[in-house]
Amino acid sequence: MTSMNETNGSAPIGIGLLGLGVVGSAVAASVLSNDGQKRGLKLCGALVRDASRQRAVELPSGSVTTDPDIILDSPDIDIVVELMGGEEPALEYISRALAGGKHVVTANKEVISKHGERLRALATEHNVSLQYEASVGGGIPIINPLLDDLSANELLSLRAIINGTTNYILTEMASGGASFDDALADAQGLGFAEADPTADVDAFDAVYKISILARLAFGVSVPVESIYREGIRKTASQDFRYAGELGYTIKLLAIARRENGGLLVRVHPALVPVDVPMAKVEGVLNVVEAEGDLVGPLWLQGRGAGAEPTASAVMGDVLRTASVIGGTGNVRQARPIDSELPLLEMDEHQCKFYVRLTVRDRPGVLAQIAGALGEMEISIASVLQMDTDAELKNADLVIMTHPAREANMQRAVERIDALGDVDNVANLIRVESYPTDR
Ligand SMILES: NC(=O)c1ccc[n+]([C@@H]2O[C@H](COP(=O)([O-])OP(=O)(O)OC[C@H]3O[C@@H](n4cnc5c(N)ncnc54)[C@H](OP(=O)(O)O)[C@@H]3O)[C@@H](O)[C@H]2O)c1
Repeated sequence: MTSMNETNGSAPIGIGLLGLGVVGSAVAASVLSNDGQKRGLKLCGALVRDASRQRAVELPSGSVTTDPDIILDSPDIDIVVELMGGEEPALEYISRALAGGKHVVTANKEVISKHGERLRALATEHNVSLQYEASVGGGIPIINPLLDDLSANELLSLRAIINGTTNYILTEMASGGASFDDALADAQGLGFAEADPTADVDAFDAVYKISILARLAFGVSVPVESIYREGIRKTASQDFRYAGELGYTIKLLAIARRENGGLLVRVHPALVPVDVPMAKVEGVLNVVEAEGDLVGPLWLQGRGAGAEPTASAVMGDVLRTASVIGGTGNVRQARPIDSELPLLEMDEHQCKFYVRLTVRDRPGVLAQIAGALGEMEISIASVLQMDTDAELKNADLVIMTHPAREANMQRAVERIDALGDVDNVANLIRVESYPTDR
C-alpha cells in the first residue's frame, strides 16, 4: 500500500471502485479528471457484474473486472470506494477491505444503518478510516458536519425530507392533483423511482438514513427495526385538497427528537403548515433541519440524489481520506455509542391528528365519532364535511384533533372503524408541530 502525501506528486493514491453504475461512473470520471490526477489519485480498477456493458465513462483498458479479489487484494489500492448498493455482497467486501488495511468510502445506507457499528470497530482495529457522507442526503454535507463541526453541541432534534422519490411524488400530488399511482408512474418514467418502488414509497430508505443520522447526532444505537415507519401509499389526492383547506401540505418526514427524557425516531407522512420552509422543499430536493443547543436551528438543503451531487459527497470523502494517507489530515470516525438516552415507543408520541373518514350522511354520526374520541380523551379541534355523494348517501369527514397520545388515537380509530355509520377511516395523518402552529 502506498503511503505518500497526496499533494507532493511522488506516489499516486490508488482507488479501487466496487460498482461502476450511476454514481460509480461519475466518481470514476472525477478521479480520472485533470483535477483528480493533480491531487495524486489513480484509478486502479472497477468491479462490475457485467464487464461487457457500455459505461458512461471510459476506463483504462483492463481495469474493469468481475473478480472482487482483483480490487480487494491489490497492493496498489489504498482506498476502496463501494458504490454497488444493497446489503450483500457489499458488506462482505467492505469488511474484507477494512480487515485488509484499506480505507473505505461508501454511499451504502443499508450497510451503514444495519452494520455501521461493527464496521466502525473493524476500521478502528485496523487503523483505517470508514467514510460514508453520500449515504444520506446525496450531495448535502450532513454526516461530516455531525461528526465534526457540530460535535460541541447537544443535538435536540433532526427533522428531514431525505427521500427524493417520495418528495417528488408528494409534490406532484400537491401541485397537480395527481393520484398516487399516476405520480408514481410519472416518477418512474423520469427515472426518479425504481421499477420496484418499495424501498422509497414504503419508507425503508428514509428509515436507513435517519437511523444513520440519529446514531451520529445522539450517540445511541438506533436499529432500523426500532424506528416507527409508515410510507406514503395511503396518501390520496383528496388529502392534499382537504389539508390545503386547513392550511397544510403533506410531506414524508424523518424525525429524531429528544422528548420526555428519551429519543423518538419516526418516519411517516405529516401535515406541515404551508407557510414553513419545509413545505416549500419540492421535487427531488432533500433537506435536513437540525437543532443544537449551541448552534440553534440549522438548515441544510440540496440535491439528495443524482450522479454528480452524490459523486461530490463521495469525492469529498476520498480527498479527506487521501489527506490522511498523505499525513496532512485526520478523519473523524463516529464517536462510540456513549449515550444512555433510551429509545421511546411511538405509542407515547403526542401530536394533533388529521383523520379522514367516509361516513353515512345521516344525523348523529358526528356525535358517535366524537363519543369514541372522547372515551379516549381526545378532543376535536375542527370538523370539515367534504365531498358528499347524494347517490351513495355518504360523505368525507375530516376531523382535526387537539394534541393526543398516539396509543389513544390508534384505539379511538379502531372504535370509530367499528361504528355502523362509518364506512372506513381512510387516513390518519400526524400534524407536525412548528412554533407558528402551536
Ligand atoms: N443514484 C443515486 O442518485 C444515489 C444517491 C445517493 C446514494 N446512492 C448510493 O450509491 C450506491 C450506488 O448507486 P447507483 O445508483 O450508482 O447504483 P447502480 O447504478 O445500480 O450501480 C451499481 C453498480 O454496482 C455493480 N454491482 C452491483 N452488484 C454487484 C455485484 N454483486 N458484483 C459486482 N458488481 C456489482 C453494478 O454492475 P453492472 O453495471 O455490471 O450491473 C453497477 O456498476 C448505492 O449504495 C446507492 O444507494 C445512490
